[in-house]
Amino acid sequence: MSSARIVVIGTGYVGLTTGACLAGLGHRVTCVDVDEAKVARLAAGRVDILEPGLAELVGRGLTSGRLTFVVGARAAVSDAEGVFLCVPTPMGAGGAADLRAVEAVAAEIGDVLPPGCALITKSTVPVGTSRRIADLLGRGDIPVVSNPEFLREGTAVADFLGPDRIVVGSDDRAAAEWVGGLYADLAAPTVVADAASAELVKYAANCFLAMKLSYVNAIAELCERLGADITSVTEGMGHDRRIGRAFLKPGPGWGGSCLPKDTHALLRIAEAAGYEFGMLTSAIDENLAQRDRIVAKIAGAAGGNLAGARIGVLGLAFKAGTNDLRDSPALSVCSVLSAMGAELTAYDPAVGGEIAGMTVVDDPYQVAKGADVLVVLTEWDEFRKLDWSYLAELMHGDAVVDTRNLLEPGVILDAGLSWLGIGRPRARERVAL
Ligand code: UGA
Repeated sequence: MSSARIVVIGTGYVGLTTGACLAGLGHRVTCVDVDEAKVARLAAGRVDILEPGLAELVGRGLTSGRLTFVVGARAAVSDAEGVFLCVPTPMGAGGAADLRAVEAVAAEIGDVLPPGCALITKSTVPVGTSRRIADLLGRGDIPVVSNPEFLREGTAVADFLGPDRIVVGSDDRAAAEWVGGLYADLAAPTVVADAASAELVKYAANCFLAMKLSYVNAIAELCERLGADITSVTEGMGHDRRIGRAFLKPGPGWGGSCLPKDTHALLRIAEAAGYEFGMLTSAIDENLAQRDRIVAKIAGAAGGNLAGARIGVLGLAFKAGTNDLRDSPALSVCSVLSAMGAELTAYDPAVGGEIAGMTVVDDPYQVAKGADVLVVLTEWDEFRKLDWSYLAELMHGDAVVDTRNLLEPGVILDAGLSWLGIGRPRARERVAL
């Protein structure tokens, strides 16, 4: 496809990645946001989000003139061929997605969209939203297309430019195909569907991933009870191509800005359709149970009582490679520990500032000072490379709880500490490994 005139509304991690990558693919892209200060920073090439490759891509887009940042959606869309809606759809009351931002933008630009311009939803929206937007616009000459994103935080640019698939859906098939064509250079399989199916793909995929993780965490729990090792179990499962090796790592539970929100939203969607999605409810319950099992593990390592226990926390972000704390399982574990009277000192390479219920420090060794237990909650690679002998010297106790199975147990034992992972045998002596 030749270069298209695109407007992206919203410059969060989805909108900014979409805009910068589409410009990288040769399209002329205008990114719009309501936040004037943010637009000014982006226009000067300053990217606040920690997303590998994004700042470089924005810089290249600005230099080439194919990427611009503006305030004011109405003026921006006046000669657009496609407008992407990338505004937030947070969890609203009762777990359903809150569509106010999407609807507000549709209402704002509805009468100035040029005839034939495709209005494209990228934000995760409930099934039926395309139709609702079309009704709201009341314009038969504006096709509404769903084009869900499958970007992971921390690898968003790589995911955009090397997608497993492109999904486009509309009740106007030609419009869906035109949107699919914007990605032609990526040579990814393209699924062209009706609007409702495309909207459902996103929820179905994210909820499947959440269920997969809850399942793995439950199997890890079984491993502990049966004396098996989750590392071998998931390796054995992962070689089965029907299962796949990805998303099989146990942890403190799944979190972030997407899986928790989307699982609750799909439950509400199912409920509204008269279907009780028990399997999904169980996955959400299992995620809470995992958090509680982690807390119990840490309490056990602290000698059974958390009141007054000094816990050193390594990692606060919901996963490595991001500074995002939204629905972070690490924070969720910490808030329970703190409520039970533990004194927390925490370090995360990407997170600073004040967080209620803990002291956040900027040096990983500081968290070990006087700690009864050290807990790894986010899988930052740099934690593997710490001087564990020095950490052991600084600690008061000798227990390390590794909720990501990140560390090499032998290294921890050699430092004179004990290691307790998830779904793996406890390591107290070198010989036991
Ligand atoms: C997720 C999906 O993976 C993306 O495909 C989707 O586009 C995105 O949501 C979205 O809806 O926008 P993301 O929220 O960035 O991406 O995070 P994930 O990499 O999926 O991780 C989610 C949670 O699962 C994290 O807490 C992570 O630590 C945990 N996880 C992941 C595990 O505990 N074990 C694993 O093996 C993988």
